[in-house]
Amino acid sequence: MPAFSATAPGKIILFGEHAVVYGEPALAVPVPTVQARAVVSPIIDGDSGDIQIEAPDISLSGAAADLNPDHPLRAAVNAVIGERDPGGVPACKINISSTIPSASGLGSGTAVSAAIIRAFSAFLGRRLTDEQVSQLTFEVEKIYHGTPSGIDNTVIAHHKPVYYLKGEPFSFLSILKPFSILIADSGIPGHTGEAVHHVRQKWINDPERYDQIFKSIGEISKNAMELIQTGSPAMLGSLMDENHSLLQSLEVSTPELDNLVNAARKAGALGAKLSGGGLGGIIIALIEEGEDQIAEEVTQAGAVHAMLSRVPSSQLPD
Ligand code: PMV
Repeated sequence: MPAFSATAPGKIILFGEHAVVYGEPALAVPVPTVQARAVVSPIIDGDSGDIQIEAPDISLSGAAADLNPDHPLRAAVNAVIGERDPGGVPACKINISSTIPSASGLGSGTAVSAAIIRAFSAFLGRRLTDEQVSQLTFEVEKIYHGTPSGIDNTVIAHHKPVYYLKGEPFSFLSILKPFSILIADSGIPGHTGEAVHHVRQKWINDPERYDQIFKSIGEISKNAMELIQTGSPAMLGSLMDENHSLLQSLEVSTPELDNLVNAARKAGALGAKLSGGGLGGIIIALIEEGEDQIAEEVTQAGAVHAMLSRVPSSQLPD
């Protein structure tokens, strides 16, 4: 039995986080310069049903069966096994590694799940389509995220830019003109679950006000899609600034994230915002020129890591 491997990219949400949970559109793109990898190899002469997991990045090594059933790595393995008899699975070792910073808003956990699901399923003789990987990854997300919108698994499993509306068929984004995004990591772990919960409480207490904020964010996503598809990405900068203000109204930004956003703008970025769940994690900034200077300024302002991600042009198939 040969070994099977799969990778899955990181991702950033360009526009629409949080509002997407309430049925507004959001835009996300893959970040292929960072990725998660899973390699599944047979354990020769091992007992069937023995699935070992090696994840040195998180110092984890041992049998999948010994992990808590809610553990995301075990959940990904179980998602693939599904209705099969786990005892009949050929003995194997799943090696997991990732260059995606965890809890940063870059989709690290989702990419690890997607890579495991794709590689482990292939090992068991079933090559999944991107959409099947996305669906199974979504099932895993639900276990430890509660009410995920589904945008992370969609962009990561399909590894293409997406315009995403919860509960509707998503569409791929056609990008007429490439653009560059600087990603700066605050080094403070993001707290997506907590942020989503916090926003929900606010919405329950004052649905009218928060529905209005979500709607405004949704309008920004729609305008952004138009600009991307018509080849005017430079105009996305002011939309990023507006989106960040609305995320501040949702109280999911922090002084550290605001600081990085302001530093990027001051250094010449066309616009900047937090990206992902917030309360930590990353900011993104639209860059036209002077990337080194802007990276330097955000680092001075406290970013532990800054990287440039180029969003290439992509045409939709006819
Ligand atoms: O923090 P991340 O990268 O998992 O992004 C979360 C995005 C939210 O809109 C806040 C939640 C969701 O499920 O869409």
